[in-house]
Amino acid sequence: MDQSLPVTRTRHPKDKPADPNKLGFGQIFTDHVFHMDYREGEGWVDPRIEPYGPLVLDPATMAFHYGQTIFEGLKAYRFPDGSIRLFRPRLNFERINRSNDRMVVPPVDPDFLVGALKQLLRLESDWVPSAPGTSLYIRPFIIATDPFLGVRPSRTYRLMIILSPSGAYYPQGLNPVPIHVETKYVRAVRGGTGEAKTGGNYAASLRSQADAHARGFVQVLWLDGVERKYIEEVGSMNVFFVLGGTLVTPSLCGSILPGITRRSVLELADHWGIPTEERRLSMDEILEAGESGSLSEAFGSGTAAVISPIGELEYDGVRIRLHDGAIGPLSQRVYDTLTGIQYGRLPDPLGWMEPI
Ligand code: COI
Repeated sequence: MDQSLPVTRTRHPKDKPADPNKLGFGQIFTDHVFHMDYREGEGWVDPRIEPYGPLVLDPATMAFHYGQTIFEGLKAYRFPDGSIRLFRPRLNFERINRSNDRMVVPPVDPDFLVGALKQLLRLESDWVPSAPGTSLYIRPFIIATDPFLGVRPSRTYRLMIILSPSGAYYPQGLNPVPIHVETKYVRAVRGGTGEAKTGGNYAASLRSQADAHARGFVQVLWLDGVERKYIEEVGSMNVFFVLGGTLVTPSLCGSILPGITRRSVLELADHWGIPTEERRLSMDEILEAGESGSLSEAFGSGTAAVISPIGELEYDGVRIRLHDGAIGPLSQRVYDTLTGIQYGRLPDPLGWMEPI
């Protein structure tokens, strides 16, 4: 949808990053932000683009106290011809509504927001980096804004979209990393908020992540919260295993985020004729497959890191090494193809890239 939002331009444009090869992730922000407010009785109102800057919020703002927040993550890429493309943006804004429903936030109009994002990107187009491996990370988010300390859904909200020129999410990049299988803490439970993209899920993961880091692991593999037996996610990503030539990922059972990269990996494998399975996958099965040699590769998938190969899994003192600690051929093929499509180096057979 083409629309024209009111724009207040910054009078103090920032300098662009001096060295685009050293961007890191999520540390630098562009000059402008999209804002939209929700007020009970009026709906979502006042969409606008404003200069980037601090927010002034009442200390009683509900989002600070009870975590009624939603976020999304997607990227804009610089194509070789200089144009800017988004990767499947509508899916992110549709997912916002599934998260909103779980967190009792009023629904948004995905088409309107894709249009608003495109207008913001056209204004900020100079900020989309072109160095290899870089992109403009896009963070839409919603916070509950009633100044109130009772526990109930807020009656007012703010939706914002901020933009961050970024490089690799993990400093390790595509190097396979050691992963600790978490047996003490859980990230989410069925019936909880695990399938919503809400801040609390990520807060709940930090203790485990910190403990794993202290022991030399880069991320944790999450097991289900009921039986502590079935694999759910890895770090803040979905997880895939190559078992006897089949690409297997845990089914979306209610406590797993329905990842857009996850869905794209499955669609790509289907397109290639590689068998895929979405099903319950136990840690016992992975241990057995590790011993028998039928487990050949594993990787995490997410917007931020795209593909993050797993070099080793540690479960209750048992270590399983994958593909001799090197990236496996299917992981590499998925990574090369996904990023090839995203950066316009390869054809886009499934029609995923959208101009702004
Ligand atoms: C993503 O991979 O897009 C994520 O959601 C991770 C994010 C927490 C940076």
